[in-house]
Amino acid sequence: MAGGEPLLSNGRPSSEHSNDLAEEDALLTGQPTQRRGGPRTWQFWREIGLFVWAVIATALVIVLAVVYQRAQDPKHSSPHPAGKRNLIFMVSDGMGPTSLSLTRSFMQFQNGAPFSEQLVIDQHMIGQSRTRSSSSLITDSAAGATAFSCAMKSYNGAISVDPEHNPCGTVLEAAKQAGYMTGLVVTTRITDATPACFAAHVNQRQEEDRIAEQMVGDYPLGRVVDLMFGGGRCHFLPNSTEDSCRADNKDVVELAKKNGFNYIADRKAFDDLKGGKALKFPMLGLFAETDIPYEIDRRNENNIYPSLHEMAEAALTALSAATKDSDKGFFIMIEGSRIDHAGHHNDPAAQVHEVLAYDKAFASVLEFLKNDPTEGVMVSTSDHETGGLATARQLHSSYPEYLWFPGPLANASHSAERLALEYQKYMFDSPSASDQQKFVQDSITSGLGIRDATADEVSALIKDPATSLYQYAEMISRRSQTGWSTHGHSAADVNIYSSDPIAARALVGNHENTEVGDFLREYLGVDVEAVTKELQEKGAGLMVTSNNGTQVSWMGEVAEEGKRLDGQNHVASYGGDFKKRHFQHGRGCDCGH
Ligand SMILES: *[C@@H]1O[C@H](CO)[C@@H](O)[C@H](O)[C@H]1NC(C)=O
Ligand SMILES: *[C@@H]1O[C@H](CO)[C@@H](O)[C@H](O)[C@H]1NC(C)=O
Ligand SMILES: *[C@@H]1O[C@H](CO)[C@@H](O)[C@H](O)[C@H]1NC(C)=O
Ligand SMILES: [Zn+2]
Repeated sequence: MAGGEPLLSNGRPSSEHSNDLAEEDALLTGQPTQRRGGPRTWQFWREIGLFVWAVIATALVIVLAVVYQRAQDPKHSSPHPAGKRNLIFMVSDGMGPTSLSLTRSFMQFQNGAPFSEQLVIDQHMIGQSRTRSSSSLITDSAAGATAFSCAMKSYNGAISVDPEHNPCGTVLEAAKQAGYMTGLVVTTRITDATPACFAAHVNQRQEEDRIAEQMVGDYPLGRVVDLMFGGGRCHFLPNSTEDSCRADNKDVVELAKKNGFNYIADRKAFDDLKGGKALKFPMLGLFAETDIPYEIDRRNENNIYPSLHEMAEAALTALSAATKDSDKGFFIMIEGSRIDHAGHHNDPAAQVHEVLAYDKAFASVLEFLKNDPTEGVMVSTSDHETGGLATARQLHSSYPEYLWFPGPLANASHSAERLALEYQKYMFDSPSASDQQKFVQDSITSGLGIRDATADEVSALIKDPATSLYQYAEMISRRSQTGWSTHGHSAADVNIYSSDPIAARALVGNHENTEVGDFLREYLGVDVEAVTKELQEKGAGLMVTSNNGTQVSWMGEVAEEGKRLDGQNHVASYGGDFKKRHFQHGRGCDCGH
C-alpha cells in the first residue's frame, strides 16, 4: 500500500478554498450543494475534470490494493501447480527451535566450522506452527499428527478421529483414492502415532495391534498405503512367535501378504532393493522389532538397520519410477521420529545425532526434488517440542556464566537408552557388587566419554539401576549445561520449512498446525471430506471381535484419558497439582509420546 498513497494525494485536486472542499466532499458523497448562479465557467469544468481524475485515481488505487492483497492472501494465490505433482511431507517429531541451536553448535564444534556454518534445514525456514490440541495446551503426537492428516484439532491420544470419536478422512487416504501413490517412512514403530494418523483410525494411540491391521488394509477403505518403511515388527507377528508384542495370535504379516504386500524385515533385503530401483509395490519393510535404534547407536550397526536418509531415498526413487507414466504423482510422509524420544529421555547427545540424521534426509529430499522431472514440494515441520529444551543450564546458586558446552555431547559414543539397556541386561545375571561397580564405571567412561564422574553419581547408578536411563542422560546434560524442563512435551511453537516458499506460501508466517493439514490437501487437490463421509458410512456400526471375545467398535475402545481430556474445560483448570504429586523417576519412558 505504501506506493498507493502518494498517487492518491497527488491526484486529489488542490483546493485553495474551504468552499471547494465542501463541494468536493458533496460531490463524493452525492449530496447536493448550493451552487452559485451564473454560467458554467472554466473553473467549473476544471473542477469536474479534476474530480473525474480523482475518482479514476482512487479506483486505480483500490484495484491495485485488492490485487496486492489477493497476491498476499494464500487463498487467492495458486495453491498448487495445475498438473502432475509430488508432495513430500517431513515431520521432525518433538523438534523445537532449540534443538536446532543445540545441533548447529554441536555440528560446528565437531567439524571445526565457523559460527556462520548452518544446517541444511536452517536455510529453508518459512514459518512457525502453533501446536495445541483440542484437549490441552500441550499436544501429544497423536493429536499433533491428526492436525496434519485431517486438518482438525482433536484430543491427545486421537488417531485420526475427531473429538466425538468419529473417524476423519486423512490426506493420504484421499490421495490414494485420487490416484496418487502413497508412502510412510519412519524410524519408530510404523504403528506409532505420527504414521498411524495417516492410515488408521483408533480412539486410543496405544492400540498399536489394531493400527497394524488397519495399516495393511484391514479396515473400511482397504489398502491405502503403497510403501511403509520403519520399525514395529513385533506388532505384526502373532503372539505365538518369540518376537511378538501382540496380545493376540493374529499374523498381520500374513494379512499384509494376502493384501499384496511384499514384506521385508532386514538390512540385506533392504539392500536388495538397490536403492529403490528393484522395489516392488506394495512394500512393507519392518527393520526393527520396535523402534530403530537412535542414530548415535545405529551408526555402529549400519549392517543391521538402514538409516532414515537411505530409507527416504529408496522410497522416493521407487515412488518416482512407479508414477512415471501416471498423470498423478505421489504423497509421502517421512518422519525423524526419535528426535522426540531423545527429548523424552533428556539425552542431548542422542538428540543432536537424531537431528543431524533428519538434516541429512532433508538434504536427500531437496536433491530428489531438484532432479525429479515432476513438479513437487517438500514441507517439513514438527508436531510439538519435547523436553522444554534450553541451551543453558544454571548448575549453582551463583549468577551463571553465559555458556553451554558441546564437548560432552561429542564425547558420548552411546545413547543413555542403550547404556541403560545394557546395564539392565547385565543386572539380569545378578553380578557381584564389585563387578557391578566396574561395569558402571566402564559404561560411564566408554559409553558417555565422561572421565570426571563423582562418587555420588556412580553410587546412585549402582543403587538404582531402574532409573539409569535418566541418570546417564543427566550426567551428559549437566556437563554440557543443557537444560530440560520436562520429560514430556511443551507448548513451544515449532518451525515450518519448505523446499519452495512460493509453492508453500500459504505456510509463510505463524499458523495453526491444522493449516499445515489444509496445505497438504490443497496442494494435492484431493477431496478429504468425501473420505470422511465414506469412512463414517462404511464404519457405522462396524464391530470387531476383541481379544476376550466381546464386540468392540472397529476403532477400539474410547480411552479413559480421551474422555477425561476431551473438551475445553481441562485446558485452563489448575488444580494445585504441584502439591499433590512429587516428581518420581520412572523407568525408561515410553509412555504417551
Ligand atoms: C495369544 O492370543 C490368544 C488370542 O488370540 C490368547 O488366547 C492367548 O492367551 C495369547 N497368548 C499369550 C501368551 O498371550
Ligand atoms: C573428551 O574426551 C577427551 C579424550 O578422552 C578428553 O580429553 C576430554 O576431556 C573430553 N571432553 C569432555 C568435555 O569431557
Ligand atoms: C472385554 O474387554 C473389554 C475391554 O477391551 C472390556 O470392556 C469388557 O468388559 C471385557 N469383557 C469381558 C467379558 O471380559
Ligand atoms: Zn513425544
